[in-house]
Amino acid sequence: MSFPLNIEETEVLARGKLPRDVFGYYSGAAWDAQTLRENREAYQRLRIHYHVLRDVSRCSTECEIFGEKLSTPVFAAPTAFHRLADAEGEVATARGVAAAGSLMTLSSLSTCRLEDVAAAAKGPLWFQLYINKDRGFTRDLVQRAVRAGYKALVVTCDTPRWGVRETDLRNGFHLPPGIEPVNLMASDTRSQSLSHQGAGLGDTMSWMLDPTLTWKDIAWLAGEANLPVLVKGLCRPDDAVLAVEHGAAGVVVSNHGGRQLDGAPATIEVLPQIVEAVGGRLPVVIDGGIRRGTDVLKALALGACAVQVGRPVLWGLAVGGADGVTTALEILRHELEHAMALAGCSTLADLTPDLVRPGGQ
Ligand code: FNR
Ligand code: LAC
Repeated sequence: MSFPLNIEETEVLARGKLPRDVFGYYSGAAWDAQTLRENREAYQRLRIHYHVLRDVSRCSTECEIFGEKLSTPVFAAPTAFHRLADAEGEVATARGVAAAGSLMTLSSLSTCRLEDVAAAAKGPLWFQLYINKDRGFTRDLVQRAVRAGYKALVVTCDTPRWGVRETDLRNGFHLPPGIEPVNLMASDTRSQSLSHQGAGLGDTMSWMLDPTLTWKDIAWLAGEANLPVLVKGLCRPDDAVLAVEHGAAGVVVSNHGGRQLDGAPATIEVLPQIVEAVGGRLPVVIDGGIRRGTDVLKALALGACAVQVGRPVLWGLAVGGADGVTTALEILRHELEHAMALAGCSTLADLTPDLVRPGGQ
């Protein structure tokens, strides 16, 4: 196989390139990986009730979020430690994402400085935040992101602790020397002394999570930051309503790609209820298990305004650096555009809920 036709083939190529423990960390999930599998299988249970005889000679995948126009509604989810896949790390990812006309959220656990990523990126960036126990540190990090030109903050809320990924424990996964979460090392040496030992994220990086976090902290951040704040990692309509009430500008329906609470529902399954509860007050983004343009079509039809992919971007990065990232996102955009034509839809606005129903009904 010289070039990948789809995301699954990209993963196969990436697996051949990455060290075993790195592939295990990227692909892995919590406990029995039930939620990881459900994220995929729930898409496969949905059927597309396509229209015929509509002019689909031109189909556009253009989308808009917070006033930003993008050529695709498939964004790059925040994922940690890109220098494990490519020497240039998140700098390469950001270039590749921008070349695909997409948007990237940089992880707090980026292995490149957030300023360097912003300088290299030709497209819009959001910044993902793990709110640290030290609110002063968090405030400084937010200020750095604002100064560097990030357009929104994405607060990840499904991580009061790290999920237990047994593959990482078995493989003794840890960061090799020279690869560090550099944005969190500003004024202390904790990450330096902790991140290269132990196995998995459990022991080594728990200091950067805060289990005392509540909705009050979201309201605090929304007041503090002069940027839209999105709440990432929820799966319930009542939590989505609380996000609205505490000043969030958007929500990301996510179970962290099955890496946190195993047994959590597939995101596509809970999306319709969340969209209904939010009632158009703010944009709803979704991630988890999106591997085909038809998955994107289903999510947008059920009310998401955009989707994110995590692992597919990492596979692209491992296979071909910045170009590999562009290719992975382009594969998904082309598949979406093709599926739209076959479904009789020429714009994203044509993707309405009646298009999608569970099979067998
Ligand atoms: C993640 N994810 C994640 N989320 C986040 O908010 N901050 C982070 O640093 C990370 N890191 C991370 C690393 C790796 C290796 C993976 C696979 C995932 C979760 C990510 O943003 C997203 O929710 C999922 O990856 C979406 O699922 P798919 O597309 O990977 O199936
Ligand atoms: C993960 C963290 C870094 O899922 O979010 O590995």
